[in-house]
Amino acid sequence: MQTSINDLIEITEGKTKILVPSGAINEKVPPRDPAFFNPRAKLNRDFSIIAYSAFWKNFEGPRIFLDGLSGLGARALRVANEIKNVEKVIANDANPKALQLIRQSIQLNNLHSLEISENEVCRFLSIYSTKNQRASIVDIDPFGSPTKYVDCGIRATIHDGILSTTATDLQVLHGLFQDACKRRYYGVPVKTKYGNEIALRLILGCICIVAARLDIQIEPMFADNEMHYYRTFVKILNKPGNLENIGFILHCKSCGNRQITKERIDCCDVCESKIKLAGPLWIGKLFDKKFVQSMLEEIPNHSVDKKCEKVLRKCLLESEMPATYFTLDEIASRMKVAPLALDKTIDKLQKNGFLSSPTSLNPTGFRTNCKIDEIQKIFEN
Ligand SMILES: C[S@@+](CC[C@H](N)C(=O)[O-])C[C@H]1O[C@@H](n2cnc3c(N)ncnc32)[C@H](O)[C@@H]1O
Ligand SMILES: [Zn+2]
Repeated sequence: MQTSINDLIEITEGKTKILVPSGAINEKVPPRDPAFFNPRAKLNRDFSIIAYSAFWKNFEGPRIFLDGLSGLGARALRVANEIKNVEKVIANDANPKALQLIRQSIQLNNLHSLEISENEVCRFLSIYSTKNQRASIVDIDPFGSPTKYVDCGIRATIHDGILSTTATDLQVLHGLFQDACKRRYYGVPVKTKYGNEIALRLILGCICIVAARLDIQIEPMFADNEMHYYRTFVKILNKPGNLENIGFILHCKSCGNRQITKERIDCCDVCESKIKLAGPLWIGKLFDKKFVQSMLEEIPNHSVDKKCEKVLRKCLLESEMPATYFTLDEIASRMKVAPLALDKTIDKLQKNGFLSSPTSLNPTGFRTNCKIDEIQKIFEN
């Protein structure tokens, strides 16, 4: 539904009315003035609603949500309006015009739990970084990279709470600017067909390393990715951090072999070619199976895109699978044959005694513990 109010438009996202500048809807690139709103990020906000709702369902502490870079408040408004029994939502942004729009949207939805703050994000989060002030969910959704704000985000999150971040510096995470990637995320990517998984692991690696410095451990709960963003949801645990899950992805461009390793290795164990290393990055799990299951159970309580369920079902299947995935095209082009169907591929691998599942990160991707040389042998027969 869209109604014009001068140069503002009232849209409904989920179950929430949001006032947005008309340019955000009508222009190709959403303008930053008077306030930024990206209608294409709806799926990303839908996942947040399901994830936050699932998290609070099993959480005993304060139900407080800090939206550090709220823009015109799309996520904060939705959390306050669509999730039951929220105690307090605080939407913060440095842009006063965005905050003025939130005030109007608060009235439109008749909300009582949403407060507004105009501050630089780290100053805002530092107000909530002391005992008894911390929030159970902290959201960091900046333009570009979240790395500048990770420390402040962790400090403002309660023990057992959730820190969620978005990254949109895709060129950096995809390997176009290796130095910038190392500077921001501590590690470097390798260009592969599963570059989106490497990007997510670089982001999680950075959060884990920063957390370890603060004597905090992280546990990834869920991650999602679309063309224009990467989003991670991690649990913040107030116990000495460790770097057990920091390592490398070894990738052989010659034979397609990939391997997770804690040490720097320079030779492929399948074809003995010189290999490339992505990392240091997160080599542990990307998804918490129980949490993904509880997200799925939350879907009927919300008004979210149908795609959410499809993605979550795949996350559930892949939650305990090995890191990295293969694509059907990759295998077909190596074997110089037409690609097999995804379900047949997975079935064949399973029948040969290997683990295999689809992946939410690529419609033609599959995970397996079968190595590339074995996969080719299986598909030759
Ligand atoms: C990508 S937008 C946020 C979008 C919003 N979360 C949503 O879902 O629609 C980033 C926002 O960060 C704000 N911003 C950028 N740097 C900031 C800073 N250092 N402190 C506070 N706000 C900042 C911008 O004004 C902008 O509204
Ligand atoms: Zn090799």
